[in-house]
Amino acid sequence: GVDILRLRADTGLITYDPGFANTGACLSSITFMDGEKGILRYRGIPVEELAEHSTFKETSYLLINGRLPSQEELRNFSIMLNDHSLVHEDMKTFFQNFPRASHPMGILSAMVNALRSFYPELQTTEEEINFTVTRLLAKVRTMAAMSYKISRGHTVVYPRPDLAYCENFLNMMFHTPVKPYAFVPEVVRALEVFWILHADHEQNCSTTAVRVVGSGRVNLYAAISAGISALWGPLHGGANQAVVEMLSQIHRDGGDYKRAVERAKDKNDPFRLMGFGHRVYKTYDPRAKIMKKMCDDLLAALDFQDPLLDIAKELEEVALKDPYFIDYNLYPNVDFYSGIVLRAIGIPTNMFTVMFAIGRLPGWIAQWKESMDDPQWRISRPRQIYKGPTETHYVPIDQRG
Ligand code: ACO
Repeated sequence: GVDILRLRADTGLITYDPGFANTGACLSSITFMDGEKGILRYRGIPVEELAEHSTFKETSYLLINGRLPSQEELRNFSIMLNDHSLVHEDMKTFFQNFPRASHPMGILSAMVNALRSFYPELQTTEEEINFTVTRLLAKVRTMAAMSYKISRGHTVVYPRPDLAYCENFLNMMFHTPVKPYAFVPEVVRALEVFWILHADHEQNCSTTAVRVVGSGRVNLYAAISAGISALWGPLHGGANQAVVEMLSQIHRDGGDYKRAVERAKDKNDPFRLMGFGHRVYKTYDPRAKIMKKMCDDLLAALDFQDPLLDIAKELEEVALKDPYFIDYNLYPNVDFYSGIVLRAIGIPTNMFTVMFAIGRLPGWIAQWKESMDDPQWRISRPRQIYKGPTETHYVPIDQRG
């Protein structure tokens, strides 16, 4: 039921579409979005249902394999993830030698690319690809926690076979030999939901990076590393860090959130309200709705007051009544409230975008797999509208004015 006009490169017709806002770059059966109505579905299932009933592991299976797993399939998937969760010991040396101030996204992107050197097996048969997929899902989580521990000068905590996916991550992040990590069910559930909500979002910037880089038939590790780099930007995944920095700045300056709204409207000021606006959503981001409620529930369960949540809510209320935000259809996106959830879990601000990357990983993998299996597959190679000089001639250096 899709009307498409498929142009071959040799038609001579080139469309000019900055930011690819009107370009359908692929046919996909993974994620459905309706930006006008605020609908998001993975493989047809509304994200609200997954956030209520599923786990991140099960949602990852759904995205990658196209359907929900049976009990046995989920059990086998868990066993595989568990078996592959350790990281090659020699990789520790890399982590230890990054300068202490390195951003965890830079480290993660480099280390995911390095996985190819440690696990150089081919990725041609379905079995080989499944191994690589499982390795990535299992090891990226371990590597993220490992880089945090090393940055703190702490002993690395290894994954435990008796813990589920999210618990294992929390334990690797926060357990110390003198203070065992105490699991709080609401925190574990919040992490599940945080990752489910980030698991895919059709052809966003980082997913496009994965597809474009992957289209040259590079290995999956390199394509995912490109996705991580793309996600790092403050207009994309880096917005969750930027939102909390913005709210903290407002808090430090005395809580004048109205000034932030005014600045965002001023076209001579480069300031933007971080966590607001979206290329596709012209209404409230359905993920932000769930995230906002989760902030309230989680903070209540932990009996934790966060002044940033109050500022965020007040700021949202003012912005949503402002004619500028109404005219431009600027509503909170997933990043507006997600940082407050992460703060409550205990995640440091510079790890926020890494948390997004772990969540988006199954989506990137699913999209990469879909593109590899696509009978319409072609290497990504857009054209341009050339606007430079017409033919001009070389001038020797001593004759240049
Ligand atoms: N604050 C103030 N004005 C804004 C904002 C904002 N947050 N977002 C967009 N606008 C304005 C722009 O100034 C522009 O105005 P103009 O047409 O008068 O120049 C207009 O709205 C359209 O903005 P674009 O940047 O062209 O919209 P685009 O679809 O390309 O960008 C984006 C979407 C990048 C998300 C943008 O809204 C933004 O920068 N938001 C803040 C950063 C952010 O929250 N990013 C996370 C996005 S969600 C995600 O990636 C997980």
